Formats: sequence, C-alpha cells, structure tokens
Amino acid sequence: MEKLLIRGGVPLEGEIGISGAKNAALPIMCAALLTPETLRLAKVPRLMDVRTMTGLLERMGVAAHAPEPGALELTAARIADPRAPYELVRTMRASVLVLGPLLARCGEARVALPGGCAIGLRPVDQHVKGLEAMGAEIRVEHGDMIARAERLRGARIVMDLVTVTGTENLMMAATLADGTTVIENAAREPEIVDLAACLSAMGARIRGAGTDVIRVEGVAALGGAAHRVMPDRIETGTYLAAVAAAGGRVRLTEAAPDTLDATLDKLREAGARISVQQDSIELEMNGRPHAVDLRTAPYPGFATDMQAQLLALDTIAQGTAMVTETIFENRFMHALELQRLGADIAIEGNTAVVRGVERLQGAAVMATDLRASASLVIAGLVAQGETLIDRIYHLDRGYEALEAKLGALGARVERRR
Ligand code: EPU
Repeated sequence: MEKLLIRGGVPLEGEIGISGAKNAALPIMCAALLTPETLRLAKVPRLMDVRTMTGLLERMGVAAHAPEPGALELTAARIADPRAPYELVRTMRASVLVLGPLLARCGEARVALPGGCAIGLRPVDQHVKGLEAMGAEIRVEHGDMIARAERLRGARIVMDLVTVTGTENLMMAATLADGTTVIENAAREPEIVDLAACLSAMGARIRGAGTDVIRVEGVAALGGAAHRVMPDRIETGTYLAAVAAAGGRVRLTEAAPDTLDATLDKLREAGARISVQQDSIELEMNGRPHAVDLRTAPYPGFATDMQAQLLALDTIAQGTAMVTETIFENRFMHALELQRLGADIAIEGNTAVVRGVERLQGAAVMATDLRASASLVIAGLVAQGETLIDRIYHLDRGYEALEAKLGALGARVERRR
C-alpha cells in the first residue's frame, strides 16, 4: 500500500493552482444521465473518485471521452443498465447521485444502499422521501434500492435536515418531472449552485439554487451543454491551513475566494494575513497560530470538510480550542492519529478539546478518510522529523497532484510504494 513520507518543520512558500471541485464534478457528471446529448466538462479534477464515477457511468452505457487533461465528454445516448452496484457505492457514497437522474430519464433505477462509512452513518432517507413525494415507488431488496416511476411529477418537499447530495439528487430528478418542484430547507453549498448552472445550460429551469428554497420547473427534455467545474474550495482551504500551520507565504490561483468566507475568517483569527483578489488568495503566516474555536455547520457555516485541517492547526496553536462537529457523528478519527504526533486532544461527545503544544514530532500514522488524511499531512508538515502516512489512497480520492503541489511550496514530501 502506498505511503507518504513527509520531512516536516520547514516553512512553505510559493504559488499553486487550484483544481476543479470534486464535490461539484461528481454530481455534474451524473447530470449527463439526463440527456442523450453530449455534456462537455472542463476543469474536471484527476482524482480516484472521478475515475470511479466515470467507470460507474460507463457500465450503464454512457460513452466517456477525455479529449485532453481536465476535459471530459459524457454522452448517455442510451442507458443500457440503470444500476449502481454495492462494490461501487461502498467505495464512493456519491454513487447515490445517479438515483435521481436515472429515475427521471429511465423511470427505473437500482442503486445499492450505501450503509455506514468511516465518518458516520450517513443514511439516504431524505433522498428517498423526496423522490417518493415526486411519485416514485422505492423498495429495498437484497441491499439495493429499487426505484420506479412512470414519470416523476413536481412536488413540494420539505427536507427534514440539510443534505447536500440529497438536494442535488432531487434537483436533478425534478428537471424532467411533470410540473414544478419546490425543495425547502435545501442545502446552500456552492457546489449546488454549480450543478444548477450546468443543468440550466442543459435547458433546465431552476431558481433559488444557493438559497434554502429551490424551485425547479420540469421540462420535457434536456440537451447537451458545456460547463467548467468550479474551483475546489476544500482543496483551497486545505493548502491555506497547511501554510497557516507550517508558516510561510502562499498564493493560490484559479480559486473562488467568495466560497471560503468561514474558513478565511478562522485563519485570520489564527493570525494569518490574507488578501483576496477576484480568483486568487494570498496568505502569509509568521509565528505560532492562535487557537481557534470552531463549530461545523451547513454552508455558509464552517464546513465539516475543513474541520480536520483546522484541528491540525489548533494542535500547535497558542491556547486551547474547542472544535465541535455537528454534521457527522464519527468525524474525529484523525484525533487519535494526531496524538501519535504529540498532539493533546480530548474528545468529549461531539467536541474535541485541543490544547496547543509547542511542537509535534514525526511518527508513523494511518489515514482513515479523505479529510482526516489531509489533517495528517498538515501535521506532518509541521512536525519535527519524519512522518510516514499509510493508506494514502484516501488522499488520492480528493486531492489532485498533492505531492507536486506541496513540492511547489518547498515541502519535502515523497510517495513510497
Ligand atoms: N443525512 C440524513 N439523511 C439523508 C441524507 C443525509 O440523515 O438522507 C445526514 C447525514 O448522515 C449527515 C448530514 O445529514 O449527518 C449531512 O449529510 P449530507 O447528505 O449533506 O452529506 P453528503 O451529501 O453525503 C456531501 C459531501 C461530503 C461533505 C458533506 C457535508 C459530496 C459528494 N460529499 O456529502 O464531502 O462532508 O456533503 O458537507 O458532495 C468529502 O469531500 O470529504 C466529503 C465527505
């Protein structure tokens, strides 16, 4: 299994380009199922999850073509097999995003129930509830959701809780439904706005994406379109947190600073000097960070996908920080690994109490999920000596060219096979 060796303790300095967003690219790729015409995407990140999603679409009969790096053309002329099997859903929960589009386009779908995952239970009851409100019949058989609907019809859906992929699934399903669908208590994440932009370019009629009430007027058919995937705000935040923790100066280009307000506020509170231009961000950090409290919340609150990285920063901060996770019930696996590097963290319920220590020391650690792995990389960059991170396939799911980008900042990072 591949490992990442980091020789930490050096400040970082340089410039890197931000990739397209994983969590925008995945739902947008599923939108290709809604039309027989070609969806042409640019800025698709080269990641394991994107390869997994491409494979899933291909086995359904979608033609996938990558004319150049970062470009992807998807054509679902005919959907031969509207099914997402457990092997794929288990490795990538986002596979559940095919459910809404398949039902809308084919009137049937068979998608494995995701089950548990490393960060918590993550059920899909809200996806099911919304599709049922639109007239679908869904039953579970042998671990699969079997869904049917002659033609979905518009409905008013009030989500019990804010769910990102749930909102995306319903929004996609509603584009081809008969009549108007209103999704209330919808997620407001920027990735939903990006998906809505792509669907609109395909001919969908959507209003309110980015607010908590989304209205979709169903149309008879969608067509092909071209769309550029938005910049990855979590990748951006991860590099900013890395430089805030290790010290130094960085300029991130091709970014979308306006999607990062909560993260930038916390990094400023930690002592970083940040300046923002239209599509780039500069951060400079001198000295030890100050401890920052945080509490995860749906957008525009502080992203759960940035919790682990800021927690890593807090481990070497001056003072004590309270980090509260409200979205996922088991998202502190990195805390135990960070303790191996000398961090002082106590978990009390859904809060981690992080007492900043003056320095971390390198050690062998294990990655448990994508963002937990990112926090170990940050800690490794700060730690004195060598940190060896095992199971870095988690990182490859969500960070494009990680070693090259960190290398461009002067970090001493190498992959070991
Ligand atoms: N939930 C339910 N029922 C549902 C759906 C969700 O109870 O039907 C609960 C979940 O268990 C969780 C909360 O609602 O406690 C929020 O989950 P959400 O559905 O919003 O998460 P998701 O859509 O499965 C996306 C991202 C995650 C990110 C979360 C929260 C994608 C592909 N994934 O997941 O990204 O953490 O939203 O912002 O967009 C990552 O990139 O590392 C990652 C895990």
